[in-house]
Amino acid sequence: MAFMKKYLLPILGVFLAYHYYSANEEFRPEMLQGKKVIVTGASKGIGEAMAYQLAKMGAHLVVTARSKETLKKVVSHCLELGAASAHYIAGTMENMTFAEQFVAKAGKLMGGLDMLILNHITNTSLTLFSDDIHLVRRSMEVNFLSYVVLSAAALPMLKQSNGSIVVVSSKADTAMKAVDGILNMDASPKEECALEIIKGAALRQDEVYYDNSIWTALLLGNPGRKILESITLRYYNVDKLIKN
Ligand SMILES: *[C@@H]1O[C@H](CO)[C@@H](O)[C@H](O)[C@H]1NC(C)=O
Ligand SMILES: *[C@@H]1O[C@H](CO)[C@@H](O)[C@H](O)[C@H]1NC(C)=O
Ligand SMILES: *[C@@H]1O[C@H](CO)[C@@H](O)[C@H](O)[C@H]1NC(C)=O
Repeated sequence: MAFMKKYLLPILGVFLAYHYYSANEEFRPEMLQGKKVIVTGASKGIGEAMAYQLAKMGAHLVVTARSKETLKKVVSHCLELGAASAHYIAGTMENMTFAEQFVAKAGKLMGGLDMLILNHITNTSLTLFSDDIHLVRRSMEVNFLSYVVLSAAALPMLKQSNGSIVVVSSKADTAMKAVDGILNMDASPKEECALEIIKGAALRQDEVYYDNSIWTALLLGNPGRKILESITLRYYNVDKLIKN
């Protein structure tokens, strides 16, 4: 307890103060005007909601998902809402060749890229592991590996624009329908979540949590990990690491 009083609480205080003051820059919808944005998993749920929010702010959009028919509707609604431009490219993120070529095509359509919003997940339902390793592999490929492939493909364009990568993990809408009856939590409202994600991205916040509870941000923010990371990083020659 003495240890906690002496060290942990002040550190926590500093962390919270930093968190509070660094988040004080104001978000303006104009920040997204004319920005070139990719949204994956955009045929429904929070991905669709983000596309509409970005459209209202006047961004250029390229959306993707598997269903061409749904994407067509999303794109035409984006144009109605005021998107600077809106296109879709349909395909599955199980296919890494598609993932890579998708980014190149999207970049060509918009003439560059400012923001890559990674939001898709595979459609597996929540079940206990029962030796179905192909499902695990598909989850890893779609939910993880394709994120790496998409990011790597986008990096040259993002470096040029000083752009950003946004990774979404949600308990909103579609994600919650997939685990209906197993996970007893209310789905987060997707429009509000979508807006919070876009705000956080525009302000270049490291992490954004949509939740009313301060504990969520604190626990997920994991101050212990951040402190350890900054201590450990002192042992690395970061310049050399980057040049390698
Ligand atoms: C993967 O995507 C590429 C590019 O879109 C396509 O040419 C290829 O046929 C796809 N592969 C499979 C197995 O669908
Ligand atoms: C997910 O999509 C695959 C490929 O389209 C399909 O074969 C499978 O039945 C779907 N699984 C679920 C749980 O919806
Ligand atoms: C790129 O963004 C970073 C982080 O916001 C900022 O510090 C830097 O000045 C920007 N660089 C340019 C060239 O705009």
